[in-house]
Amino acid sequence: MKEIKINTESRNYPVLVGTDILNENNLNEFSNKEILLVIDSKIEESLKKEAQITLSNISSKYSELILEASEENKSSTTLSIIHDVLIEQSYSRDCILFALGGGIICDITGFAAATYLRGVDFVLIPSTLLSQVDASVGGKTAINHPKGKNMIGAFHQPSKVLTDTKLLKSLEKVQIREGLAEIIKHALIKDKTFFKWLEENIEDLLEANDEKLLEAISKSIEIKAEVVSKDETEQGIRKWLNFGHTFGHAIEVYGNYKRFSHGEAVAIGMLMATNLSHKILNLEKAEIDKIKCLIRSILTDELVKSEFQPIDLVKLMSADKKKKGDNLNFILLSSIGEAQISSDIQESDIIDSIKLT
Ligand code: GLY
Repeated sequence: MKEIKINTESRNYPVLVGTDILNENNLNEFSNKEILLVIDSKIEESLKKEAQITLSNISSKYSELILEASEENKSSTTLSIIHDVLIEQSYSRDCILFALGGGIICDITGFAAATYLRGVDFVLIPSTLLSQVDASVGGKTAINHPKGKNMIGAFHQPSKVLTDTKLLKSLEKVQIREGLAEIIKHALIKDKTFFKWLEENIEDLLEANDEKLLEAISKSIEIKAEVVSKDETEQGIRKWLNFGHTFGHAIEVYGNYKRFSHGEAVAIGMLMATNLSHKILNLEKAEIDKIKCLIRSILTDELVKSEFQPIDLVKLMSADKKKKGDNLNFILLSSIGEAQISSDIQESDIIDSIKLT
């Protein structure tokens, strides 16, 4: 088992990465605490049982809430359901919320913890590859508003994260591909050596090889840990983690959140951001070919052939930024492992980069 330290201004905490690590030994500091476990309904029955038994054994008071994870349910209504349990059962300021699930469950449980009694502790047990390498690291918590995703939220760091690859066993291939998109993103913005390792091991990773996944997850979390430890509240380099996401968010909306999953949209968005990096920062042709080859290898043939009306995508990008009070900035690469923020980009350059070739 590996321990990766996240040291932010507001809190230092460990991310434990390993296989079969959800046990009492790794939860000593939470003995005799009041625990509420929020569980994703899709978690396999035996894994659910294991968490329920372990946490009810160590706690002084235990309740659980099984939630159906969906973007519609990542709402103020679901947040109130969590708060209602805490209030009705008189959970004290010293309680701990546990989340066992993917990014939606991690985000909403984290926000419930951030807002109950002005902030209580929480622990994350992310169950998808995507949430293990992204949502569970760095303390972004949120719910959606009818007008936009993650519009209401807070930075609130967990006390601990248990990243257990045993939970990945029941994942579908498409979920592995989604997580790989964010792993590739971490390599692209910060680590050329890791990018090379990914090129060499992508076939094993796509097959969910346990040992390789463990290595990729650890390296990916280390990269994100370094970034969020330097910039907890996204004033500067944490924005690098949005590589491919300006295009990606617009692609998700373009497909009505049905045609493309988040990871697929980000992967396609990274292809477009790579084109834009060539135009604006002269990213070399040889590197572009390597980047595109790796990203295409995690996409289906159908996705690689996706077509977009460029002007519609630009409108969606501008509308999204306006709603969030941001400027239309892009994270671009000057080379593999070297990212930077670019603003004042001409619309014609953005339009030219909206192609997957
Ligand atoms: N998902 C990007 C971040 O945590 O900042």
